[in-house]
Amino acid sequence: MGFASDDRNMLDEWLTLGPALSLRGTQAGSPRRTRLMGAEILLWRDDQGQVQAREGGQALLAMERYGYLWVCPSGQPSRPLFDCPEYAEPGRRIVDCGGFGVAVSGLRVVENFLDMAHFPYVHTHFLGNVPHTEVLDYKVTVDAATQEIWATECRFWQPKASASAADGVLAEYKYRVMQPMSAMLYKTCVQRKDALDAIGLFVQPVDEEHSIAYVLLMYFEDELSDTDLIAFQHLIFAQDKPILENHALKRMPLTGGLETPTRADTTSVFYRRWLRNRGQRFGVLPA
Ligand SMILES: [Fe+2]
Repeated sequence: MGFASDDRNMLDEWLTLGPALSLRGTQAGSPRRTRLMGAEILLWRDDQGQVQAREGGQALLAMERYGYLWVCPSGQPSRPLFDCPEYAEPGRRIVDCGGFGVAVSGLRVVENFLDMAHFPYVHTHFLGNVPHTEVLDYKVTVDAATQEIWATECRFWQPKASASAADGVLAEYKYRVMQPMSAMLYKTCVQRKDALDAIGLFVQPVDEEHSIAYVLLMYFEDELSDTDLIAFQHLIFAQDKPILENHALKRMPLTGGLETPTRADTTSVFYRRWLRNRGQRFGVLPA
């Protein structure tokens, strides 16, 4: 019983337990059950509509935000949940793509989300194509106020950057890492040249080597159905899943020369250093 780690980076954070819609029909006597950091969590909506969560008889600090459920395992969050203004921005369509189970550390899932170099090889004909394999130089910084990682001015040639893209495009990307297991991607919007579509990746750490990756779309898009948009994300994730699960190391190595990053992996190098500086241990390969 209890959470299988004393890593403050996790215990004092807001961690997701999936879409708020998953509580439909729940009550104290018939809660939804899920797992977080090795512990079983019971979740339900009370008579007042408030989200309630328990772990082994202990009430957990819980809330609903951006259409998702969040709990803080220690009950003492070190900071508020990250800002996501796109969720409430007029004109954006919010499409929840649900969760994808994957047998690997959540840190691996986020690192893969940040990596453009794999597009032509793993997402051939969609997010990239050989011989357009070059990752052009881009900038990576840590925001002093929020401590979030930002990768900006990322550009990559994509044959079909989204479900509604008809032709190839030099797609512009911005990445943002808000928490060890949450990231956002802002990319060229097919329908509005002055705006960027946003994709949220929120990872539920089931345990150190199992995760559920939730994908939330915040798009300016009025042609495709929800089904089309969700199917495209499922297709992309189905291509990533075997690659992720075939890692010899299910957890993320942060020290030593076990995996040598390349120039294209600037964000990955940054992300790993950022995790190391925070003293991240959950989901990390012990040194
Ligand atoms: Fe991928």
